[in-house]
Amino acid sequence: MTNLLKDNLTETQERIKYWARGYKSQPNEYSYEIDRIEGFIPTELQGTLFRNGVGLFEINGEKIGHPFDGDGMVCAITFNQGKAHFKNRYVRTEGYLKEQEAGEILYRGFGTQKSGGWLANIFDTKFKNAANTNVMYWGGKLWAMWEGGHPHQLDPKNLETIGLDDVNGLLESHESFSAHPRIIDNTFINFGVTGVTSQSLVISELDNRGNKLKKHSHPLKDFVFFHDMLATPNYYIFIQHPFNVSPLPFLLGFKTIEQCFNYNPKQPTKIIVISRQGNHDMEILETESFFGFHHGNAWEKDGKIYLETICSNFFPKKKQAELDFTQIDFDEFPNGKMWEFELNLAEQTVTRKQLIERRCEFPSVHPNWVGQEHSYLYMNVNRTVGENGALQAIMKLDKKSGEKQIWSSTSNLFPGEPVFIPHPQGIAEDDGWIISMVYDGVQHQSYLIILDAKDITKEIGKLYLKHHIPHGFHGTWTPEVFN
Ligand code: CO
Repeated sequence: MTNLLKDNLTETQERIKYWARGYKSQPNEYSYEIDRIEGFIPTELQGTLFRNGVGLFEINGEKIGHPFDGDGMVCAITFNQGKAHFKNRYVRTEGYLKEQEAGEILYRGFGTQKSGGWLANIFDTKFKNAANTNVMYWGGKLWAMWEGGHPHQLDPKNLETIGLDDVNGLLESHESFSAHPRIIDNTFINFGVTGVTSQSLVISELDNRGNKLKKHSHPLKDFVFFHDMLATPNYYIFIQHPFNVSPLPFLLGFKTIEQCFNYNPKQPTKIIVISRQGNHDMEILETESFFGFHHGNAWEKDGKIYLETICSNFFPKKKQAELDFTQIDFDEFPNGKMWEFELNLAEQTVTRKQLIERRCEFPSVHPNWVGQEHSYLYMNVNRTVGENGALQAIMKLDKKSGEKQIWSSTSNLFPGEPVFIPHPQGIAEDDGWIISMVYDGVQHQSYLIILDAKDITKEIGKLYLKHHIPHGFHGTWTPEVFN
C-alpha cells in the first residue's frame, strides 16, 4: 500500500492522501469475533459500544455532496468476558432502500443536490433522514439518530432496522429528535428544531423507560442551527451562533442549504438559557462571535452557570472538497479550541477563558458527571500546537491541575471520537477506559484502541478489524451485552 505515495510528497500532502482514503465507502456488512488483538481486553469491560457514521459516499458511483449526507452505518462492538465481537449494518432508511433500488441520488441533503440541475431540485425541501449521526440505547430501544427527523429503531442484537420511531408517542410526524441528547440523573433530555424560515425549539425529557416526563416548545425569532445542547440540574443551554440563511436559492433549486448559510462574525453569539422548571423561562446572554458544533459539559456553582464549548472563528464550508480524494484542504478544517464560559444570570454577564491551545473536536466526560462540575475532559486534538487538519491525538485535560495527557498516533493514523466507558466498580471520575476507533490510512484498515482513562498514554488493547470503517461521528456505550 505504501506504493500509493510518491516519494516527493510533503508530510502534509501525505497525511491528506491517507486521511482522504478514510472517505472510501464500506459497502460490506460483517459479523465476526475479533481475533487479532494486541494487549488484552479487561474482563471488567463488559457491554456494547455502538458507533454511527457514514458508510457510503456515493450512490452507484454518483458522489454525495457532503459527508453529512451519506447513509448511516452502525457498528456494534460487544465486549464479553475478555473477548470482542464486531458487527456493522446499514440503517434501512426509506432513502437508503429507494436510492439503492434506483441506483441514483434521489434526495437533496445538507450539501447534496440531485443531478439534473435546478429543475430537478426546485421546491424539493425533503431531505433524506440519513440516520447517520449518533446511536444510543435508551428505555429498551436502540436508536440511530439524525437531527432533522425521527430516530430509527434498530434491533440491538443484530442491528436490523425496525423502522422510524416516534419515541412512545412523544414526537409528532413533523418533529425532530436531535443526535445530541444529554442524560442527567437517569433522565434523557433532547431537543428538536422544526422549520427553516420560521423555527421552533422543542425540548423533551424522558424517564429511564423512554416515556415522556416533559415536552415544551419555544418559538425562535432568529435563524438557529443547533447541533448540540447542554443541560444542568436546573437549566437547558443552547448556543446560537450568528448565522442568517437566505433560503431562496435553495428553494429554487440553485444551491444547497449549506451554501445559503451565512456566518456573520460581526454579530454576537447568543447563549440561550432555559429553566427546566416552572414555565421554562428563557434568558438570552450575548458574547463575542464564534462557531462550533460541539459542547463539553455544563454545571452550576455558587449561583453561576459554567459551560465548555468549542469556539472557532469560521464556519467550515465547501466541504465537497473533502470527498475529492486528492484535494482536501487542511486549512478548511474546523479550527475550534475549547473554552470555558461563566454565566452570571443575575448580572447578565458572560466571561470566558481558553482551556487549551490545540485544535479539538468530539469532547467527552464521564457520563455520571454530565451536568456536574467535573475534573476531566477527553477530546480529539492535533498532535502539536499550531498544526492544522485532521486531529490525530487524544487529550485528557485535568481541569484542576491543568495537566494534559496525550495519546498520539503516528502520522497516518486517525482516531475517532474518544468514548468514556466507566469501570463497573469505579468510584473516581477517571476509573474507566477511553475507546476510540482508529483509521489506519496506510493499511486502509481500522482498529479499536482501549486506553486507561487514568493514564491515556497507556494502551491496554488494540483490536484489529478485518477491514476499514470510514471516518465516523458519534457513539455511546451501554453495559448491556446483547446475545
Ligand atoms: Co455531533
